[in-house]
Amino acid sequence: MMQKAFLCRRFTAAIEAELRERFDLSLNEDDALLPPVEIARRAAGAEVLLVTATEVVDAEVMRALQPGLKAIATLSVGYDHIDMAAAQAMGIQVLHTPDVLSNACAEIAMLLVLNACRRGYEADRMVRSGAWPGWGPTQLLGLGLTGRRLGIFGMGRIGRAIATRARAFGLEIHYHNRTRLAPELEQGATYHDALDGLLAASEIFVVAAPGGPGLAGIIDHERIARIPAGGVLVNISRGDLINDDALIGALKSKHLSAAGLDVFANEPAIDPRYRALDNVFLTPHIGSATHETRNAMGWLLIRGLEALADGKVPENLLSPRRSEDIPHPLQGRA
Ligand code: DGY
Repeated sequence: MMQKAFLCRRFTAAIEAELRERFDLSLNEDDALLPPVEIARRAAGAEVLLVTATEVVDAEVMRALQPGLKAIATLSVGYDHIDMAAAQAMGIQVLHTPDVLSNACAEIAMLLVLNACRRGYEADRMVRSGAWPGWGPTQLLGLGLTGRRLGIFGMGRIGRAIATRARAFGLEIHYHNRTRLAPELEQGATYHDALDGLLAASEIFVVAAPGGPGLAGIIDHERIARIPAGGVLVNISRGDLINDDALIGALKSKHLSAAGLDVFANEPAIDPRYRALDNVFLTPHIGSATHETRNAMGWLLIRGLEALADGKVPENLLSPRRSEDIPHPLQGRA
């Protein structure tokens, strides 16, 4: 008999078709965001719960779906929306989607770096609005990338994919992780054993460290002040790593010349003050949003669920494991 599964968001048509072949699948047809209580109600009886980073899967959801729920599969590398301790305690297996999205996320990081440094929002608006007076020698002068120092906070797989692309733009790479990478992974990047040291070295500072309660608010007033004057901040990780008051203040005072943000606290209800700023380039959490990547993420979950059904331990299993084996946010799985 097929396992019962509930799909909380609409995946690509190709992946949904594959899921239908393998599971007795119910889904959230209209793709509306479901609060935990609604997930618990609609997924009643499910043995597999398929979610994304937009669903909060807390202990109550898991308890409500006991004893049937065997696995939670999230179409995301981040798992800060899942109560891992509760999953561990209840013996629920949790799968995620590392690796396959690293290149796509790194592309968006570079898109944000380029648009923040070269004033992409203002440039687009000038042309689109009909306000372009024609070419001008001092029009929309931005920051060139060549020769600048790019600091990467969280040099996991995504951070390293960003570094690879950034090197091609002539940027000098600096990074901070809990531990220093091996030389073949570091590829000549300068290691900073303290985040504050990285901030002080970063003319462009990119947040690529995964979210989680441990890092919430870590980029605060004091830390933003350490970025050299005129610097740029980019975030592709999770919005809650950044203190919005601090970032908005620094953008208004021009301590930071620009920012590029793909992620926000309290998505999609972002801090409205960002919308009024010309020197911030905004994208709606599209790091992994390519056809190829979303299909690859879906396949990774399908293969992982198949492996679990065969009694194997898939590479993308997060829990249950011994807690010391769960990757730390600043290592490996970033
Ligand atoms: C991830 O994979 O964690 C991305 O942020 C998409 O949710």
